[in-house]
Amino acid sequence: MTRMTGGSMTSEAERPANLRGAGMPAVDISDVAVRFRTKKRDVTALENVSLRVDAEEFVAIVGPSGCGKSTLLKLVSGLLRPSSGDVRLLDEAVTAPRRDVGYVFQRAALLEWRSVRRNIALQAEMRRMPSAQAAARVDELIGMTGLRGFEDAYPHELSGGMQQRVSLCRALLHRPPVLLMDEPFGALDALTREHMNVELRRIRQETRTTVLLVTHSIAEAVYLADRVVVMTARPGTVAEIIDVNLPQERDYAETLVHPEFARASGRIRELLGAADAAE
Ligand SMILES: Nc1ncnc2c1ncn2[C@@H]1O[C@H](COP(=O)(O)OP(=O)(O)OP(=O)(O)O)[C@@H](O)[C@H]1O
Ligand SMILES: [Mg+2]
Repeated sequence: MTRMTGGSMTSEAERPANLRGAGMPAVDISDVAVRFRTKKRDVTALENVSLRVDAEEFVAIVGPSGCGKSTLLKLVSGLLRPSSGDVRLLDEAVTAPRRDVGYVFQRAALLEWRSVRRNIALQAEMRRMPSAQAAARVDELIGMTGLRGFEDAYPHELSGGMQQRVSLCRALLHRPPVLLMDEPFGALDALTREHMNVELRRIRQETRTTVLLVTHSIAEAVYLADRVVVMTARPGTVAEIIDVNLPQERDYAETLVHPEFARASGRIRELLGAADAAE
């Protein structure tokens, strides 16, 4: 598959400063449980979950629906507190919503009345970033994600893939050291999704951002990630963590026929089959 347009960035300048060569885990989840109590029922969403993600690592999370994947991302961002256990982000306990992460949701969640440029700039406005600095950064991201020429288009004038690029730009605007992605490509058709996978991989190689990606696609997980966390059905626990021993530079077509791709995918499929059977 060919690459999309988008200038190559100076990787050192793009790197999140506070993690450069620091050698500490970017995310450290230790023995976490999450229980939801509602009027109708008590739900244990996560139980006994531990996961360390190194700086600059790309980790994918797969598991049956309702096993607590979104809950896990919310814990890392501080949108939710665990019932027990600890979550640390960039060597600091997570006790409140954190502004130093980027978050991409399943739906692009763009404001219909704002242009591409102004949807991306929203992140800068929320952070009261000086406008000249923000405009330069928005422009840089538009180039990096191949949105050049669509700066003034409105969301309804964009394809689903382009809308997701805009939300990716918005999430990357403040150069977050950690990027959380919750099924970002779930609503796209298969081919656009492959294209976005290639794009995301390239952008990640440039930014060196640590990524936690939730996905239902085994191929997406294996193509993109350094490690894949396979979770069990509710209460969600870590069934197994699969190392993906593929080269860092991954051509899409070549990766798909790589024996390591087959091995990792096969193992994940096996584990997910077992989880389904237990449901
Ligand atoms: N705010 C909440 N109040 C009560 N229960 C909740 C809440 N949020 C999540 N849950 C429950 O916790 C469990 C895990 O939810 P979560 O959204 O994390 O699953 P998921 O793995 O992301 O599923 P999917 O793949 O369908 O997105 C589910 O049973 C869900 O109903
Ligand atoms: Mg979810």
